[in-house]
Amino acid sequence: MPKCIIDSKEYEFKAGETVIQIADRNGVDIPRFCYHPALTVVAQCRMCAVEVDKMGKLQTACSLPATDGMVVHTKSEKVKQAQASVMEFLLINHPLDCPVCDEAGECQLQDYSFSYGAPDSRYDEMRRTYMDLDMGSVIKKNMNRCIHCTRCIRFCDEVGGYREMVALKRGNSTEIVTVDGAPLQTQYAGNLADICPTGSLTLKDFRFKKRAWFLKKTPSVCEGCSQGCNIEVHQENNVVYRTHPRENMDINKWWICDEGRFLFHYVHSEERVLNPSVRDGTSALEKMDWYDAVEKVSPKIKGKALVLVGSDLTQEEIQAIQQFAASKLQTTAVYHYGTENILKAADDTEEDKILRRTSKTSNLHGAEKLGLKPWKSADHNSGEFDCALVFRGGRAMVLNQLRKCVKGAIVGVGVFNSGAVDSYDAVLPGLSFVEKSGTIVNWQGKEQRLNQSIAPLGESKSITDILQLLR
Ligand code: SF4
Ligand code: SF4
Ligand code: FES
Repeated sequence: MPKCIIDSKEYEFKAGETVIQIADRNGVDIPRFCYHPALTVVAQCRMCAVEVDKMGKLQTACSLPATDGMVVHTKSEKVKQAQASVMEFLLINHPLDCPVCDEAGECQLQDYSFSYGAPDSRYDEMRRTYMDLDMGSVIKKNMNRCIHCTRCIRFCDEVGGYREMVALKRGNSTEIVTVDGAPLQTQYAGNLADICPTGSLTLKDFRFKKRAWFLKKTPSVCEGCSQGCNIEVHQENNVVYRTHPRENMDINKWWICDEGRFLFHYVHSEERVLNPSVRDGTSALEKMDWYDAVEKVSPKIKGKALVLVGSDLTQEEIQAIQQFAASKLQTTAVYHYGTENILKAADDTEEDKILRRTSKTSNLHGAEKLGLKPWKSADHNSGEFDCALVFRGGRAMVLNQLRKCVKGAIVGVGVFNSGAVDSYDAVLPGLSFVEKSGTIVNWQGKEQRLNQSIAPLGESKSITDILQLLR
């Protein structure tokens, strides 16, 4: 294998690898703005300058293929001068508004300014300012903070599915815009905020909500579809503020879709039923404590029972329900449900060429693996069941057409909104995907772990605890 030397240490590399790739793999820190491993290399910010023996000028590490015997210096005086000059150039027009910028605390420009820049500015002229057009519902643009690295343009061209961002004008007047100022169409717009190395593109949803350094981060998995994209859940004081993609080269690379990014909001919805609630006849659902609710619900679970299991539940939850159905209810009518018209794993296909899948629940493939068959109401007779238990994690479609097949009580167990349970006789509140841990299986058959990031909200309990109370 060929070898090169970076900062006096020898590293092996594969033919074709660039200096920045070798450095990244071996923990050698080279600053960069325009380089992103997922995107075409353009070498235009010059922040990754390195000195190479026998090459007169500084080279850009992101575009320089390593050669056998190459000797690279990333921290020489010449390199430090170049890095300071690049920082000075990039900050000439920057508004230095970190105190009011959402990117502060996780901003590459801020970090590099501290590590590689000068403590003061020689610039006395008026700074350039822009009027920003709206870019749609996901991204807030602030061109005054832009350093023209073009990561956003390349993301749209190469990943997001639409060629919809361009650099307009030239030199000092350069402006990054959407074509004709149109709102972004990509379903992956949130990733623009992640890859923008400054606060020029930030999430509207997260704007001014929380300073980044207060957030505690838990690695977990998105529950938005059967892709199972890896995410981090960011919370403080038991409130989730955002989810963020977590790199997994086998599943989602560096990205998540917007639907998955923002779906956590239902967790804190005012509509969510967070107390055990039971209906008496035709009255509204009445909140009560667990003791009273179990007293009222238990006698209603009798006779021939139907058990419907959301394919948004974890493997452990499904197994607990299967055991409960077999031992306490002695029923074999246990079915899974989740997405309209996606009844089995074989129906689950690509929704686009990027990540999204047609199964809008995360564990359809796991539910099938545990032997559950899909629920098809058309296959059942009117009044066939005496009661029904409907388990739901928060993402499966809400089943509201059960009355025809169920003579007696319909009891929802899990995450439900009050406006969506008109036909239910009771709701026993369970945990959403950020309040519990467990295993889910994605469409590739990969088992992944959900990790609890906040404590259960309200009076909600785990499905295992609720089943214990009903025994
Ligand atoms: S908006 Fe951000 S990602 Fe796009 S060119 Fe400017 S700094 Fe780079
Ligand atoms: S593609 Fe599916 S799993 Fe991935 S972020 Fe979107 S909804 Fe979540
Ligand atoms: S990161 Fe190499 S030139 Fe920008």
